[in-house]
Amino acid sequence: MTLTTETVTNTIEAHGGKLISREADELLKKELLAESQSLSAITLNPWSLSDLELIGIGGFSPLTGFMNEADYKNVVEDLHLSNGLVWSIPITLPVTEDKAKQLDIGTRVALYGEDDHLYGVLELEEKYKYDKEKEAQYVYGTTDVDHPGVKKVYEKGDVYLAGPIYLLDRPKHDEFVDYHLDPSETRQLFNDLKWKTVVGFQTRNPVHRAHEYIQKAALESVDGLLLNPLVGETKSDDIPAAVRMKSYEVILDNYYPENKARLVIYPAAMRYAGPREAILHATVRKNYGCTHFIVGRDHAGVGDYYGTYEAQELISKYEAELGIQILKFEHAFYCKTCENMATAKTCPHDASSHLHLSGTKVREKLKNGESLPKEFSRPEVAEVLIKGLQEQ
Ligand code: ADX
Repeated sequence: MTLTTETVTNTIEAHGGKLISREADELLKKELLAESQSLSAITLNPWSLSDLELIGIGGFSPLTGFMNEADYKNVVEDLHLSNGLVWSIPITLPVTEDKAKQLDIGTRVALYGEDDHLYGVLELEEKYKYDKEKEAQYVYGTTDVDHPGVKKVYEKGDVYLAGPIYLLDRPKHDEFVDYHLDPSETRQLFNDLKWKTVVGFQTRNPVHRAHEYIQKAALESVDGLLLNPLVGETKSDDIPAAVRMKSYEVILDNYYPENKARLVIYPAAMRYAGPREAILHATVRKNYGCTHFIVGRDHAGVGDYYGTYEAQELISKYEAELGIQILKFEHAFYCKTCENMATAKTCPHDASSHLHLSGTKVREKLKNGESLPKEFSRPEVAEVLIKGLQEQ
């Protein structure tokens, strides 16, 4: 027998209590568009553009703009905003010193994308210099320039601009229109589906059997799954988002109950900041209306900069303050002796029974048109990936 509840409301509060929208209404948009001709302008790189979008649509609630120095310092040093709310990654707008000199505090700045399209306007309240080594060490846990997130820190301008933003237009995400929902829309979707409890799943990879295993383990105790792949900037050897999206469609169609999972893009850039990024990922999914969030092994990690369970350890310290329940999973694998997916918690056999494939090996095989073992990846997924990567 299935129990159904008559009225189900997704009640999880946005981070800080209120879901933010910084999207200009028609009137303000008209005014800002007219004014934009006479404003100083800067061009945002794809990373900053995705931050602008996420602030605008409320994914980064309670942020209403790019962080000022007080918030920045608190976040870097103490994982909190200056109002005391937990926040783990600085959301900042870098420009060169020369550019910063041309911009006056108290004025509006037009924010263009690299495609010369006007996406937003910043009310410039502050400009400040920052210590890149310190940001790298505190946020990424390393100053090694081979770390893709740290590399970005060293490459960016030396001055941060701060202040509230207005989002005038969204980046198009043409390839993903069907899966492009704002946090207010996912909240509505969960209500429509009568999902009271929803687990959010972050990924920058195709969904392989280990991902599927932990998602389904979570689904045994919550109402629905928000498969929320990151589609913003990733490092060049990650599988491109457009190829991954097709693989998500095919796995959901073939292996998930129709009313139990939904695919929605997370339009952010990947920072590879491991433990700190796991906290950001959970915070954003709370804003999307998720009540639970999965953190598995080496969440948002890269190379061997972070310990396998470091993200779980850090997020555990802040879980109560975060207000979203974290579901932690150990490293999952296929065990040839058990003949099923397992973790060390459920499988007594040693590593010789376990199937392991590195990300590099997987990409190499796919590029060569070789299929993956069905114990590692669903055949339909591998097929889509081979096709997609060969077309690149
Ligand atoms: S991430 O950078 O987006 O975190 P990935 O897409 O590989 O990378 O992981 C998505 C989620 O699945 C993360 O929570 C990660 O910890 C978890 N995960 C990935 N592979 C495994 C695995 N084999 N066992 C357990 N958890 C895993």
